[in-house]
Amino acid sequence: MNKIRAAITGVGGYVPDYVLTNRELETMVETSDEWITSRTGIKERRILKGEHLGVSVLGIAAVKNMLSKTKTDPKEIDLVIFATVTADMTFPATANIVATEIGAVNAFSFDMSAACSGFIYALSTGASYIESGMCKKVIIIGGDKMSAIMDYTDRTTCIIFGDGAGCVLLEPTTEDVGVMDAILRSDGSGESYLHMKGGGSRIPASHETVDKKMHYVYQEGSAVFKFAVTNMADVSAQIASRNNLNADNIQWLVPHQANKRIIDATANRVGIADDKVMMNIERYGNTTAGTIPLLLWDYEKKLKKGDNLILAAFGGGFTWGAVYVKWAYNSN
Ligand SMILES: CC(C)(COP(=O)(O)OP(=O)(O)OC[C@H]1O[C@@H](n2cnc3c(N)ncnc32)[C@H](O)[C@@H]1OP(=O)(O)O)[C@@H](O)C(=O)NCCC(=O)NCCS
Repeated sequence: MNKIRAAITGVGGYVPDYVLTNRELETMVETSDEWITSRTGIKERRILKGEHLGVSVLGIAAVKNMLSKTKTDPKEIDLVIFATVTADMTFPATANIVATEIGAVNAFSFDMSAACSGFIYALSTGASYIESGMCKKVIIIGGDKMSAIMDYTDRTTCIIFGDGAGCVLLEPTTEDVGVMDAILRSDGSGESYLHMKGGGSRIPASHETVDKKMHYVYQEGSAVFKFAVTNMADVSAQIASRNNLNADNIQWLVPHQANKRIIDATANRVGIADDKVMMNIERYGNTTAGTIPLLLWDYEKKLKKGDNLILAAFGGGFTWGAVYVKWAYNSN
């Protein structure tokens, strides 16, 4: 009997309407459109405006988009995983909120915290539930409302991040398509370079944590940059090599959108030409767990059944990894 694999059978996405341009950032911090564009590749990012709107708003909209496109009955969903570092609340899980809101009354649901690698961690986890036979329909969401934890007086971080969410539907198949392989890694010694200090159980929220701006992203950009370039490229080359993939038979590199220079370095290392590299960083910036599903959402119409995709990410933790996906459908 053929092995059961987890096929991606649908994609959804959502970005909020408000566009924060480099020009507007010039009025907020000492920076320039020229600096941001040349150092990161970002021109604009989306921001979720409005009081008391959490990342669930983005996730729910992305999932509704996917459910209507695939004509899926939410009652058939077995599992919802939401990869995010900007959950609506510390608990309950935002995945619970989303599952109930979309009518997935028969599902169980949980959040996954792996920063910018969250989506590929969750994709691999969801695929395992399908491969084991425990689940038949799994929704994987990746999304963040980074504007909620951004210090808009810190020019080294606020120019990079934006808000958005994407999702995929996983279903079993015995065809030779779906999630084919994954290499996932983490290294806790990266904690000091990229984190949010306040509000957790180590340093609970207090007047002092607010005064010291501990509820914002802290990042040592150049240390993260060096780590990302090496590890995202290494793991992409490793997964390609162990699956006999190369520039000729990889149709798409789907890299986390943190910095165009990191994306270019990864593509060079795997030997993939620019026109095979999915890119939307110029429009959305870094949406953390949202980048990879938002790329699949943007490029869905170009994807053909049997295309070989390498998804690659790195992020806070440090976390990093690559997933080899063979695309399961023609979307037009
Ligand atoms: C943050 C990042 C864009 C900064 O670019 P960089 O080339 O590393 O720049 P540096 O941090 O070395 O700073 C270079 C100079 O630019 C300045 N600078 C930083 N941000 C600036 C901005 N927005 N506008 C203008 N100048 C800026 C710095 O103050 C520094 O000035 P100095 O030389 O006078 O001290 C880059 O390090 C990066 O993308 N890192 C990875 C971040 C990432 O991927 N994070 C997400 C992980 S998922």
